[in-house]
Amino acid sequence: MRAMVIDKYGKRPVREAQVAIPEINDNDVRVKIKAASVNPIDYKIRDGKLKPLLKFKFPLILGNDFSGVVTAVGANVRDYQVGDKVFGRPSKDNIGTFAEFIAIDKDEIAHMPRNLSFEEAASIPLVGLTAYQALNEVMQLQPGSRVLIQAGSGGVGTFSIQLAKTMGLEVATTVSDRGVELVKELGADQIINYKEQDFSQILSHYDGVFDTLGGQNLDKAFHILKRGGTVASISGMPTEKVAQQMNLGRMKQWMFRLASRKLTKKAKQTETHYEFLFMHPSGKQLTEIKRLIEDGKIQPVVDRVFNFEETQGALEYSEEGHAKGKVVIRTNT
Ligand SMILES: NC(=O)c1ccc[n+]([C@@H]2O[C@H](COP(=O)([O-])OP(=O)(O)OC[C@H]3O[C@@H](n4cnc5c(N)ncnc54)[C@H](OP(=O)(O)O)[C@@H]3O)[C@@H](O)[C@H]2O)c1
Repeated sequence: MRAMVIDKYGKRPVREAQVAIPEINDNDVRVKIKAASVNPIDYKIRDGKLKPLLKFKFPLILGNDFSGVVTAVGANVRDYQVGDKVFGRPSKDNIGTFAEFIAIDKDEIAHMPRNLSFEEAASIPLVGLTAYQALNEVMQLQPGSRVLIQAGSGGVGTFSIQLAKTMGLEVATTVSDRGVELVKELGADQIINYKEQDFSQILSHYDGVFDTLGGQNLDKAFHILKRGGTVASISGMPTEKVAQQMNLGRMKQWMFRLASRKLTKKAKQTETHYEFLFMHPSGKQLTEIKRLIEDGKIQPVVDRVFNFEETQGALEYSEEGHAKGKVVIRTNT
């Protein structure tokens, strides 16, 4: 099958290769991929930036989520049949969706929302699960809570704003001029133009901050929280807890405790919490997301669709960092 691979870490273009169609185990389905989305993790993996957290073998097929059609099912699979349309995010040991097929555990997929095209459905799994886990599992926000969602016009941001509104949250978000109209349509209650205003001078007594930016924006986040509030970061420094959850050795756990000390100290000083989230696959949560989409409560936001041959261009476009919503690759036509 055709696949877009890298042969080693570094800022080199992806290469199209012919690789074997993956075999399935008893708990797997094989999916003919119709579309995949680009996520910043794709070029972070390519550059070797996630080496402390993730181990890969080369040649490595890039790509972290997809939509497609089931072409084979393992002996233990009951909920899926050949011909079903599905979408999913594979586990960290089984990435590789910039390809014609993937073999994936049945628990990491869900039936595709009936009202979406393959391109739209492929835009959802990674960002949808990230938003779901940050707002529900990490921050555990309740109706009426106030949350700041950083970078509201990005892939994670566009989904998170909509999900937060379905949860009855009051949402502030940061965007540049180019994102204002979009986040207004998605339901944001307060919009801060980060090029002109400093959110930490405007917001206070928030229950949560969903930090998608890291750096100074993360440092400042603690100051807008009420006592007991939580910063959930997906771009800051991972914590010892995350290293434990990912079964990294004691040495790495200690390294991450040390590296995140500044942030955990800041949380203690401000009587708030700091949590890093490394999102995990979940077919069950994707099924809940599917329902929200079919009920019309959440809509995909797709900025651009590229053809499979243009995968390198799609990665470069995403890496520029200005996409409004998601960048998608059409795999099979
Ligand atoms: N830990 C995890 O499990 C996990 C999961 C998903 C994502 N992530 C990480 O989360 C980050 C965001 O992912 P994404 O998919 O949303 O990225 P993305 O779609 O590439 O984000 C691009 C958007 O960010 C906006 N932006 C850039 N700088 C900004 C700033 N200072 N303030 C407000 N908005 C800003 C851009 O708008 P303008 O160009 O108009 O400014 C653009 O619309 C990435 O670093 C990704 O790796 C981590």
